[in-house]
Amino acid sequence: MAKTPHYSKEETKIVHGITTCHTTSMDLVPPIHMTSTFKFKDQAQGAAIFAGTEEGYLYTRISNPTVDLLEEKIALLEGAGDAVATSSGMAAVAATVMSLVRPGENIVACNALYGGTFALFHTHLKRLDIEVRFISPAMSNDRNNIIPLVDDKTRLLYIETPANPTLDIIDIDLWATIAGQYDLPLAVDNTFASPYLQKPLSLGADIVIHSATKYLGGHGDIIGGIIASTPAMIARINEEYFHHFGPAMSPFNAWLILRGLKTLAIRMERHSKSALTVAKWLDAHPKIAKVYYPGLPAHHGHDVALRQMKYFSGVMAFEVKGGMDAGKKVLNGVQLCILAVSLGDCETLIQHPASMTHATYSKEDLKKAGIAEGLIRLSVGLEHPDDIIDDLDQALSSV
Ligand SMILES: Cc1ncc(COP(=O)(O)O)c(C=O)c1O
Repeated sequence: MAKTPHYSKEETKIVHGITTCHTTSMDLVPPIHMTSTFKFKDQAQGAAIFAGTEEGYLYTRISNPTVDLLEEKIALLEGAGDAVATSSGMAAVAATVMSLVRPGENIVACNALYGGTFALFHTHLKRLDIEVRFISPAMSNDRNNIIPLVDDKTRLLYIETPANPTLDIIDIDLWATIAGQYDLPLAVDNTFASPYLQKPLSLGADIVIHSATKYLGGHGDIIGGIIASTPAMIARINEEYFHHFGPAMSPFNAWLILRGLKTLAIRMERHSKSALTVAKWLDAHPKIAKVYYPGLPAHHGHDVALRQMKYFSGVMAFEVKGGMDAGKKVLNGVQLCILAVSLGDCETLIQHPASMTHATYSKEDLKKAGIAEGLIRLSVGLEHPDDIIDDLDQALSSV
């Protein structure tokens, strides 16, 4: 008989909360249930499981024990009643909006977003006659700017915080209050923070979205996503979209994310501590025009970040004096930092949003979202910060 461990701290919950699959084996590490389908004892049992009158697995696109374990774990860490894992972060964003919004209806969103989310909202939803009413990050922390965008066709409020790539901090409590006032769900993309640093549901949000590809997995070896919310909301997402459009997560990816999650607390603390060191160093460098990192007291979102985050996470952005040409020299000059998109990995990754992750924005849209053309995004990894700084220093010496 398995014992129930007692703990009171978040770091312990990350390691010990929800670790056992629904099997009778005593593995320390849960097995990977690599199976497409599940056997029924007889026709009556198969029919009962399909009808939902008996519990059981039927097909991995619908559910799988390893994927279930990840869903339960994220629900626990986010303080949610349930969760559903998806094949990618974009699949989680798409499943959320496609289940809640119909043609002729609208979404109110801050336009500081990952480029893929922006493209979905700006281009693809438009084709489906779903309007997204964008508000710039500079305007988005004042309720008087948000409320006029809401009308009787609004079905969802949507924010990302910290936002990709400008690290804008959106006030979750403020947006949740407006959502509550109009009886609308608020979805928060929590990818940059992870549940260890920020818990949107505890601040009044209704839905949390993650690209699990980033800090949840933490090792750059999977693509995945997850949505956490109430059991009723997850059931709605499953019925309206997930089961039929089929963006299911592979059990192997779920297992790798479960493995990565065990070190979430120490990784997030180290990413945050090193990022603060690097951000301070960049901020003092004579060749740097501007640093965007919410951990710096001068950052416009610092106070809200202090209120809603435990630490400031590992991603920052900066502009080099001399604009785009100078920025290119840094991107091409790094030797330790890796020129690649994505973030939240053990390795420090550096990239150029305007030509890479946010190439979906037009020049005008970049301006509206406050993304400078020469902006460089840095995801600080788990190397020693002195080595990251030495590498940036030598790359900046070529400018
Ligand atoms: C904030 C944020 N949300 C969603 C996504 C999409 O996730 P994925 O690449 O796993 O589809 C990303 C990807 O970079 C992201 O940064």
